[in-house]
Amino acid sequence: MHPLEQLRDDALREIAAARDEKSLEGVRVEYLGKSGSISEWGERMKTLGKEERPVVGKLLNQARKAVTAALDQRAGKVRADKESDALASIDVSLPGTPHNTGSLHPLHQMHERGIQIFRRMGFALAEGPDIETEWYCFDALNTPPDHPARNEQDTFYLPDGRLLRTHTSTVQIRAMESAPPPIRVIASGAAYRRDELDATHSPQFHQIEGLYVDENVSVADLKGELEFFMRELFGADSEVQFRPHFFPFTEPSLEVYVRSKALKGGEQWIEVAGCGIVHPAVFEAVNKARGDNAYDPEKWSGYAFGLGMDRLAMILFEIPDIRLFSQNDLRFLKQFA
Ligand code: DAH
Repeated sequence: MHPLEQLRDDALREIAAARDEKSLEGVRVEYLGKSGSISEWGERMKTLGKEERPVVGKLLNQARKAVTAALDQRAGKVRADKESDALASIDVSLPGTPHNTGSLHPLHQMHERGIQIFRRMGFALAEGPDIETEWYCFDALNTPPDHPARNEQDTFYLPDGRLLRTHTSTVQIRAMESAPPPIRVIASGAAYRRDELDATHSPQFHQIEGLYVDENVSVADLKGELEFFMRELFGADSEVQFRPHFFPFTEPSLEVYVRSKALKGGEQWIEVAGCGIVHPAVFEAVNKARGDNAYDPEKWSGYAFGLGMDRLAMILFEIPDIRLFSQNDLRFLKQFA
């Protein structure tokens, strides 16, 4: 056997025995590296005689080819083994890693329920900013300059004279300024008052405002529609009571009370909203701002209401303290996920 054949066989044996990429590389260097034992035969060729040279050249080529091919093949096998070893160490029967999914805040859920019902009743969604002018919050709503609600003790004023809206009734004015009657809108959002934070009061609270202006709108429409709403929300057995009240922007004005088995066993009347027939002075203010007589109080009438959404959510979800809404406590929030 020619020494080159011997070297080739040695190399192939070592390759077959190699268990990782590092030892394969060692074999490659040993035989095919610059001064590897097979490569050296390339130099040695020059010293050989004419007859021997082609024979050795052929053997050298064959040895190189065989060893290179074996190295490649073995490297592929080593890599595949490594991968399947890694996969074998994974226990597919272990439970997966759960994703943290968020959920809607209970107040948000309450608003969505309310909005859904009003949408079915044909109300469109209107919008207005939380930072308002005195005009939208008070003047246009027939609230005189000496009204206690305008007091700095009750209302958050900004240094520039604007304020945080004390109710969502501001959106009534904005909606009427931007569209002539008939109009049928609700607005959902936050309102702000300088109340001390306790179990039932919060300086930020939430309302759904409603406004319907058309020909011949009466208290009967108002009562019928709010009753329908309350029954949708609290169940068919809900009873609704309207008690006389005062708001500057409605005449007559009413407070809405609800009683239902779903709420505290059905024993208690719970106040949930203010409402009334839109005061003609509100239409006049809107006309003045519009510069026309679109809301002619002789021709059009309307009803309006403001629902306290924090209160509704508290009684519906049996939440004992309004502060829970803003404390960001996951133990509380997760109960509504
Ligand atoms: N804005 C009143 C409040 O926050 C609630 C209210 C009463 C809204 C009568 C109305 C209404 O639209 O007609 O206390």
